[in-house]
Amino acid sequence: MGGVGGAADLFENGRTFSHWQDRPVSGETIRALANLLKLGPTSANCSPARIVFAVSPEAKARLRPLLDAGNVEKTMTAPVTAIIGYDLAFYERLGQLFPHEPDARSWFAGKPDVIRDTAFRNGSLQGGYLIMAARSLGLDCGPMSGFDRQGVEREFFPTGDVRANFLCNLGYGDRSRLHPRSPRFTFDEFCSIV
Ligand SMILES: Cc1cc2nc3c(=O)[nH]c(=O)nc-3n(C[C@H](O)[C@H](O)[C@H](O)COP(=O)(O)O)c2cc1C
Repeated sequence: MGGVGGAADLFENGRTFSHWQDRPVSGETIRALANLLKLGPTSANCSPARIVFAVSPEAKARLRPLLDAGNVEKTMTAPVTAIIGYDLAFYERLGQLFPHEPDARSWFAGKPDVIRDTAFRNGSLQGGYLIMAARSLGLDCGPMSGFDRQGVEREFFPTGDVRANFLCNLGYGDRSRLHPRSPRFTFDEFCSIV
């Protein structure tokens, strides 16, 4: 895995993969991934992402009926599928995560709109950190939003506090099966300097 992690690996050569080499991802690599992505910033360090890494054939079989048809094959053949959720009870953990502000829980408790916005915003950021952390470790990604959200929540987040955000297949991609990259905006189409 030497030599990976620069801008070329994170962005320029980073693609969305649907086909995978027959090469597993170790538990050690999954832990390294989590230990990197958790360092990305979240507001009040609230860290709302909750992630289930589906690796076993049993876990994949539970996921299969919840996937949109176009996402089945790529997910069943991926070594790992990260199920990225966000915890609507995240503020109960701020005593651990933001200990220098004992009042932090009260910024959220009883405020469902603030809770939902904060959890979705920061949980989505953490999902983005996962993609970039994976690429920094030499892994490839295939993010997906085509799945039965409530079914995934019932199956993989049974406590009821966690909403499923998106799925991300992880593995070593088969670059020979990539289609050409879709166009991106020019600077002026999506940015301004004021
Ligand atoms: C949040 C998210 C959800 C996506 N959902 C799906 C999906 O359900 N099925 C699919 O085939 N591709 C899905 N994609 C893949 C995108 O179409 C792809 O990342 C985009 O076209 C950029 O491709 P590139 O990384 O190769 O440039 C998703 C991507 C993201 C980031």
